[in-house]
Amino acid sequence: MRSKLEWRAARVIAIETPAEDVRAVTFAVDGLRSLFDPGSHTNIKVTIGGSPAIRTYTVLPSEPGTLKIAVKLHPNSRGGSAFIWTLKPGDTTEVTEPENRFELSWRASHYLLVAGGIGITPIYGMAHALAARGQSIRLIYGARSREQMAFAEELRDLLGDRLQTFAQAEGQAFDLAAEFERLPPEGEAYLCGPHGMLEAARNLWRASGRPMSRLRFEVFGDSGRFAEQAFTVAVPHRGRSVEVRADQTMLDALIEAGIDMIYDCRRGECGLCAVNVIETSAPIDHRDVFFSDEERHEDVKMCACVSRAVGGCVTIDTGYRRDTATSGQPASMATA
Ligand code: FES
Repeated sequence: MRSKLEWRAARVIAIETPAEDVRAVTFAVDGLRSLFDPGSHTNIKVTIGGSPAIRTYTVLPSEPGTLKIAVKLHPNSRGGSAFIWTLKPGDTTEVTEPENRFELSWRASHYLLVAGGIGITPIYGMAHALAARGQSIRLIYGARSREQMAFAEELRDLLGDRLQTFAQAEGQAFDLAAEFERLPPEGEAYLCGPHGMLEAARNLWRASGRPMSRLRFEVFGDSGRFAEQAFTVAVPHRGRSVEVRADQTMLDALIEAGIDMIYDCRRGECGLCAVNVIETSAPIDHRDVFFSDEERHEDVKMCACVSRAVGGCVTIDTGYRRDTATSGQPASMATA
């Protein structure tokens, strides 16, 4: 659980292009207290379609007083990555002190790191931190093509043959089941990639009989089955009907409309933003990694921060009642 976000003024000081479709942006941040922590993320204020919004990005290793992120320009982006790609040195925005929900345990005998595409961002920081401490590592990195593999050369220099890369364009694919099999019993796996890869990993890991606490993962956004469409969300217990733009999350639209919402990760991982689905006129594109396959198929709940209706109208109950809320501090709560 976290307390209120601490926003800091940030100014772009460097732009790099570590892969053909990836832009790395370094910000000088006023009063930044945190030093780099592998797996951590920051929230950034962006502008999408002329409206303010918040997007969350993994933090990369950088000098004290700075934050660095790497963002893939995604064709189905709701607008966050498009905004980051417009930034140039001297531009300003606000960022939060980094937080970490994808931490290394530092207790394993061996670390298997797996990255799919831009999922390399937390894995890259972890590889650096683990290598610096002389830990046993193997890094599996897959992407559509070699040109789209950010940081691959640098990681090759760092890890040598402990890095294995796979380019789909060359007909290559990695075998997660085999990787899990060769992992020593006290080993841990850390994965970041698209939804399908993480679902497969979770199922394989469970089938292997290893403790689930030794599998850690993080999904990256824009990983739905359908392109973003506008839809309507009806909230009968608040007597409201809210339009969700294609470039906006349902969570942001509800907060903007003054609906009480509890949330934390904004990445479909913690489940705090889950709402009850009463009925829907369109399929639901579940993009979380919180619910099980079965729960997602039931369409009874959805994570408002990432999941969407594919057009049409979804009727929900947020489950939150101001008069029955406990006095405990929620992770984050936006209220009317
Ligand atoms: S805020 Fe964590 S799953 Fe939505």
